[in-house]
Amino acid sequence: MPAADLHLLCPVCSHPLEHLEATAARQPRLVCPNGHSFDAARQGYFNLLVGKGTPFEPDSAAMVASRFNFLGNGHYLPLARAVASAVVPNLPQEGAVVLDSGTGTGHYLREILDTAAAGGRHASAVGLDISKFALRRAARLNPEAVNLVWDIWQPLPVAANSVDAVTVVFAPRNPAEFARVLRPTGVLVVVTPRSGHLGDIAALTGMLGIEEGKDERLAGAMAGHFEPASSVDVDIPLALGRAAAADLAFMGPAGHHLDLGQIAARLEHSPEPVTADAKFRLLVFRPRTHGAP
Ligand SMILES: C[S@@+](CC[C@H](N)C(=O)[O-])C[C@H]1O[C@@H](n2cnc3c(N)ncnc32)[C@H](O)[C@@H]1O
Ligand SMILES: [Zn+2]
Repeated sequence: MPAADLHLLCPVCSHPLEHLEATAARQPRLVCPNGHSFDAARQGYFNLLVGKGTPFEPDSAAMVASRFNFLGNGHYLPLARAVASAVVPNLPQEGAVVLDSGTGTGHYLREILDTAAAGGRHASAVGLDISKFALRRAARLNPEAVNLVWDIWQPLPVAANSVDAVTVVFAPRNPAEFARVLRPTGVLVVVTPRSGHLGDIAALTGMLGIEEGKDERLAGAMAGHFEPASSVDVDIPLALGRAAAADLAFMGPAGHHLDLGQIAARLEHSPEPVTADAKFRLLVFRPRTHGAP
């Protein structure tokens, strides 16, 4: 259930959205003073993109199912813990707000909220994603968060200076909007794959490689709004059954080009366990203070 600490904005007129509880006849709603109204989907998320359309190809239900299965089996738990460790100490004791941009199935946000709660902090949360299939899962996993179908390239439906941490785990980044919604004391936590990520599995299954120079481009894109605060590499040695390896390949960009059967076929002759190293970089940024370049 959304907390009062969240300051959501109407995507049509930018006035504050108020959360109305469900009634016998109607799902919960987000409504603005001008009468724009967004009913929760049966699965609990809100689609704020209604009528806008988007040129981006959202992850399919099948890709999302693979991601949910793979992450649910704990293969990336060390990364989830690293994300939570980067976020939670930066949250205020009271009234903390976390925004998980490209939340997917909500896996990393779950770890953040659990870690915060274990440390006696209550955090309110927003999960944004363009895939309603992903948000169906996220809404179930994180029922206390507000999960919004939204396109990260549009102005975010969140008030300026209202968020303590933005997290972006393998998802697109909109630095100007992240900077606008973050409080000056807030943090931006970004996770990207490093060169060599998933080596053999990537090669076998036709996963797209990591482009050279990605780090420099990321730093450049952030520079106008953020300054780097810290960085940590997280490496996870994986030893997977073929089905889990196929889920792993299919849940990423390769899933937009190949179906799960095609990926499974490429792994058919791989000896089990299928081994590879997951290689991540977790970067923490702070908003630049006003007046900085
Ligand atoms: C590789 S997944 C990562 C999901 C999640 N953070 C995780 O690590 O499990 C990338 C996510 O970004 C979302 N996404 C892609 N383009 C987007 C956009 N323009 N606006 C919002 N979400 C987007 C996808 O739907 C997908 O859920
Ligand atoms: Zn409105």
